[in-house]
Amino acid sequence: MRAVEYDRYGPPEVLELREVPPPRAGKGTVVVRVAAASVNPKDCFVRKGWFRRITGRRFPRRTCYDFSGWVEEAGPGASGFARGDRVFGMVNGWGGGTCAEYIAVPRDEVCPLPEHMDIVESAAVPLAALTALQALRDIGRIGPESRVCVNGASGGVGSFAVQIAAAMGARVTAVCSAGNAGLCRGLGALRTVDYASERIEDSDERFDVFFDVFGNKPFDLTRGLLAPGGAYVTTVPNPKNLLYRLLTALSRTRARIVIVKSRRRDLETLLDLARRGALRPVIDGIYPMEKIRDAHRHVETKHTRGKIVVTVVA
Ligand SMILES: NC(=O)c1ccc[n+]([C@@H]2O[C@H](COP(=O)([O-])OP(=O)(O)OC[C@H]3O[C@@H](n4cnc5c(N)ncnc54)[C@H](OP(=O)(O)O)[C@@H]3O)[C@@H](O)[C@H]2O)c1
Repeated sequence: MRAVEYDRYGPPEVLELREVPPPRAGKGTVVVRVAAASVNPKDCFVRKGWFRRITGRRFPRRTCYDFSGWVEEAGPGASGFARGDRVFGMVNGWGGGTCAEYIAVPRDEVCPLPEHMDIVESAAVPLAALTALQALRDIGRIGPESRVCVNGASGGVGSFAVQIAAAMGARVTAVCSAGNAGLCRGLGALRTVDYASERIEDSDERFDVFFDVFGNKPFDLTRGLLAPGGAYVTTVPNPKNLLYRLLTALSRTRARIVIVKSRRRDLETLLDLARRGALRPVIDGIYPMEKIRDAHRHVETKHTRGKIVVTVVA
């Protein structure tokens, strides 16, 4: 089978499409024939070696964490899946490797995909939408009438965050470029702030949750925007954000970091939102697997409008 691999950390050019042996269905795993994967910033950071302390020096490595496709084989202890079932999901951890014709995935990271979901576009959903859901619902504890600000609202995580917050009845302010204001309003934002002409930290608005998706508005800059008992949630687990997390551990107004986890019941929640018409992936580009380098380059621009999908099965 074909899979994308690399033998050293570096630029997109290190990515290569290779013939490799197919995986076997081990205990508790499901082998999936992959229809599509999606590229997230995590794929680029790992490929560049930014997390080499965690990801180590063992090569070859593979790329991508999101997948959609069809069950090829269910291993012992992975009952409930039958050959040909449509599925999607995200693999946990740092190994990744969903940009491959077949993958072996722990059964808890595989979720049935209903017929009404487009199999290629569904690969755009898991990592980014799970991040948004877990940040807003579990950490931000938003509800009807919550005032939510999403910074970086037009990207992968942000485009889902605006929709999820709006679906939960929140009033959403989206920080995005002027060119993406219409997109964000269409996704459910009541107000947009153009980051090029207005500094959100100077706003008089108060928020119950400030979700710093893009990662350039740290807690010290934005704490004044939070209503009493409000939460700042960032996607970036850097030392400064970890410090603020510690310092606010016992405070009413808190700074937190979201670390996404693949959970089948959360994927089912996302599917439920999609079934009700409250959630859809915004797709900026679809690349064939042979163009994986271009897909990574696109994400590296930091101007992706929604998500980048990679088709694996022709
Ligand atoms: N901790 C976790 O578990 C976790 C999970 C998922 C993601 N993340 C991290 O979250 C970050 C965002 O991920 P993503 O998938 O949403 O990235 P992305 O899709 O690459 O984000 C691109 C978006 O950022 C917007 N943007 C660019 N400059 C901006 C600025 N100065 N202010 C506001 N928005 C700006 C762009 O809009 P314009 O083109 O209009 O400028 C574009 O739509 C990444 O660092 C990623 O690694 C962490």
